[in-house]
Amino acid sequence: MNSTPTFAVRTKDVAKSFHDGVAETPVLRGTQFDARLGEMMLLVGPSGCGKTTLLSIIAGTLAADAGEIEVMGQRIDQMSTAAVTKFRSTQLGFIFQQFNLIPTISVAENVSVPLLIAGMSSRKAEDRARELLTRVGLGDRANTRPGRLSGGQQQRVAIARALVHNPPLIICDEPTSALDSENGRQVMEILRSIAGDPGRCVVIVTHDNRTYRFADRMAEMEDGVIQRVLNSPAEIAEAYGAAVVH
Ligand SMILES: Nc1ncnc2c1ncn2[C@@H]1O[C@H](COP(=O)(O)OP(=O)(O)OP(=O)(O)O)[C@@H](O)[C@H]1O
Ligand SMILES: [Mg+2]
Repeated sequence: MNSTPTFAVRTKDVAKSFHDGVAETPVLRGTQFDARLGEMMLLVGPSGCGKTTLLSIIAGTLAADAGEIEVMGQRIDQMSTAAVTKFRSTQLGFIFQQFNLIPTISVAENVSVPLLIAGMSSRKAEDRARELLTRVGLGDRANTRPGRLSGGQQQRVAIARALVHNPPLIICDEPTSALDSENGRQVMEILRSIAGDPGRCVVIVTHDNRTYRFADRMAEMEDGVIQRVLNSPAEIAEAYGAAVVH
């Protein structure tokens, strides 16, 4: 029996409101979103439309008010908090705009942290960290502190850290917005190579139209609803024209 899911992410009718003590503001209003294994899926839309909220719900760090959230074939909305935390640690890697590296320890130690937390010996964790740093082109910087690296190099360290548990789903929130175009391109090429693995999926929230040409598909969100899905690079190029040509 082949139980491998086609979809890395599938959400149905997701609703989420925030309360500010006075009023309740609906942010997600019946949101349908999906991303398949073997693809890079972009999620775009105006500031405040609910992109990070949806990513947080998919990542299981924020609970939806209603709706179905399936990640790697499992309904995380039906899991206990403890089960979601465990699921997240093996199935998901996160990459953020601000790399969130620890400044006082080396690059290799930063990448090792999730492995040490999971109980791996420091020797093994260090070996795995170096292997991943080599993969992102930073094998020779393993002993450096993050502050001595460029923004793009720091983001590549964050990618290596996100990959330590070999998660099938990589979720990125604005991974290139703090980077210049050359560093942004290098980061996108690494994410692109990860997404080319048929057992993996990369979901990227972005405002950066320099990333569009790397995507397989793109979902456009407005006011908490996916308004349109562009289902191929050709559809993305047709919709955004010169913006995606570099
Ligand atoms: N924890 C929270 N408490 C209250 N309101 C929130 C909270 N998180 C988000 N919001 C509100 O929900 C709306 C959507 O926020 P969200 O961060 O999902 O937007 P976004 O699409 O990621 O925007 P941006 O592109 O600026 O990052 C905003 O109006 C925001 O103020
Ligand atoms: Mg956001």
